[in-house]
Amino acid sequence: MSERYFVTGALGCIGAWIARLLLERGVTPVVFDQGSDRSRLEAILAPDAMGAIEFVEGDITDSAMVQRALAASGARRVIHLAGVQVPTCRANPTLGAMVNVVGTLNVFEAARVLGVERVVYASSAAVIGLGDDGNGPVSERGGGEPTTHYGWFKRTNEGNARVYYLDCGLSSVGLRPLAVYGVGRDTGVTSDPTEAIRHAVLGRPFGIRFSGETDFVYVADAAEAFVACADRAPDGAHVFNLHGETAQVTDFVGLVDEALPGARDLIDVGGAPIPIPSALDDSALRRTVPGVPSTPLRAGIVETVRRFVELKERGWWADPTSRRAGL
Ligand SMILES: NC(=O)c1ccc[n+]([C@@H]2O[C@H](COP(=O)([O-])OP(=O)(O)OC[C@H]3O[C@@H](n4cnc5c(N)ncnc54)[C@H](O)[C@@H]3O)[C@@H](O)[C@H]2O)c1
Repeated sequence: MSERYFVTGALGCIGAWIARLLLERGVTPVVFDQGSDRSRLEAILAPDAMGAIEFVEGDITDSAMVQRALAASGARRVIHLAGVQVPTCRANPTLGAMVNVVGTLNVFEAARVLGVERVVYASSAAVIGLGDDGNGPVSERGGGEPTTHYGWFKRTNEGNARVYYLDCGLSSVGLRPLAVYGVGRDTGVTSDPTEAIRHAVLGRPFGIRFSGETDFVYVADAAEAFVACADRAPDGAHVFNLHGETAQVTDFVGLVDEALPGARDLIDVGGAPIPIPSALDDSALRRTVPGVPSTPLRAGIVETVRRFVELKERGWWADPTSRRAGL
């Protein structure tokens, strides 16, 4: 039996790319997700690859179910991504806390009881508010206080992970990406740049709801970072920023236009900048877990355009009422 990784929330964007990477390495992803929509996986996997994934449909807020599923998976490494994004936490903070905080506690508790090797979980750059660090990249110790419930929930998870190491010796890594982009990214405000590419490929207008500069991480790199930490992080309760490339949203649109001439005319940029430092210093991650790739923004955009064009040519969006309409 091949090695197995328990991956929560892997019907989502980052998780789908993690499942893809694990399959490429010949290991089995056991996907725990409350959803049943496999379209993000279908969009990036070869048609015959889906059969090698084990799916468990379940709610991360149900502690008994999480523990049962983790035990049945036989996995020694856990990658925890299940969560709801900023708009959901803003609209319903109680639900946000249940899924993002209690759900994460459920994962750690199950990992503790079952003695797994390590939990790698999605924190977020939203734990860092704007501080008085000047214009330089902000490390894990810099920045100000979070400005959203979502950011506080993610920060709480970092604290709880630390306590699990102190009390029980359960090792973990929390990764803090900012704006992940790539095929499958369709939820949350920072999904807008990816949504803009998809709309442009389909010849439709799209308005990106934020402006200014931010830290763009290509989704395949984010997936590599999660798996590398699951495989190679030293013991301890680590929290690492994940840096991609810092750029203005208008420059992002310019690169989309280079890859897809005319796209600029379809994409509008408006709204306030994201209230998170736009340049993250991830030297701690690079030092501690070397070898995580960092795709230049231009190359990541070219690849994303290529993939969306290929999906369009495959007739992915031919039926606008299908569940794929939103991907
Ligand atoms: N995408 C980014 O730019 C970004 C940046 C920082 C942090 N993160 C964090 O990374 C993680 C993954 O992000 P993503 O963009 O892939 O998110 P996503 O929204 O695409 O996927 C989240 C997945 O979690 C699942 N989920 C939600 N509630 C659940 C529940 N109660 N039980 C079980 N599954 C549940 C959803 O069905 C979905 O498949 C999230 O925790 C997110 O907060 C993402």
